[in-house]
Amino acid sequence: MIDFCGIRLEHEVINGSGTFDAIAAQRAFGDELLERFPFSAFVSKTVTLEPRQGNPPPRLWELGAGMINSIGLPNKGLRGYLAEDLPKLRELPVPLFVNVMGSAAEDVARLVAAFGARDEVAALELNVSCPNVKTGLLMGADPGETAALLDAVRPQTAKPIIVKLTPNCASPAAVAAAAEAHGADAVSLINTLRGMAMHPRRPAEPWLGGGTGGVSGPAVRAVALAQVREVRERVRIPIVGMGGVQSGRHARDLLDAGADLVAVGTESFRDPYAGGRIAAELGRIDANSGVFSGASDEARPPIAQRR
Ligand SMILES: Cc1cc2nc3c(=O)[nH]c(=O)nc-3n(C[C@H](O)[C@H](O)[C@H](O)COP(=O)(O)O)c2cc1C
Repeated sequence: MIDFCGIRLEHEVINGSGTFDAIAAQRAFGDELLERFPFSAFVSKTVTLEPRQGNPPPRLWELGAGMINSIGLPNKGLRGYLAEDLPKLRELPVPLFVNVMGSAAEDVARLVAAFGARDEVAALELNVSCPNVKTGLLMGADPGETAALLDAVRPQTAKPIIVKLTPNCASPAAVAAAAEAHGADAVSLINTLRGMAMHPRRPAEPWLGGGTGGVSGPAVRAVALAQVREVRERVRIPIVGMGGVQSGRHARDLLDAGADLVAVGTESFRDPYAGGRIAAELGRIDANSGVFSGASDEARPPIAQRR
């Protein structure tokens, strides 16, 4: 068992927001999904105050090592999510983290207050970093903006608040430090890196309906490692590391770089049970290396002691 911001988790592997639809997966796989749920906590896709249609198609471009998405955060909005999705997600066998985004601090504060008041919700994640939506980028790209956001949001809930950092800014570590100083309980990183693909048959035209999109998957793993390390050097709060994780080895590397939990995103599109496989691989690596046994505890103290 792991303690993450006071929440008990079975293992270190959770999902990246927007990359695993637990409700659709349950429809496809039935109760088997609940019995073998791949993650130790479920992170919702981003929810906004009002419903959103998302970006025009095409929304995906496959890369040699991952993909670019320009989904544009389609969602039912706060009211639809509370009425339709929350009753289903409360059946999941793991804690629920709800990821929210707004175009102004007051919008995010309303979302956090509404979800924070629900027993089904264990923690909130603030998406301040989505490169597909202009408003998302602003608040997470500048330490002052992030501090102001936390000042508006922190009084709305006693539940843990995780700030999801964007890699598309001058210094994610400076933004993380501002988030910590203004009351964030944890940070998560990385969100997708802004990227673009040209249309294969129409010169000078981008392929994606949104123009640019977010790069994810193996292509961003080295960036994630470097940024997690840099953020770890600046903050003491827990870190959820993600970006291109496909195996227990990749997860172990992010933990060694300073993360406390690891999230799996793009890999779940290839195999919805990837999270469970990666957690099992990580467990075997740790058992074989003795990372969590006896003497090695000194080398890597548990989260509670490191805070
Ligand atoms: C198709 C897709 C949709 C995503 N949707 C969201 C989202 O709704 N909110 C969010 O904070 N991040 C979203 N992300 C970012 C992921 O949670 C994660 O930060 C990123 O993809 C890096 O991890 P990965 O390389 O393992 O995919 C999305 C990523 C993908 C590929």
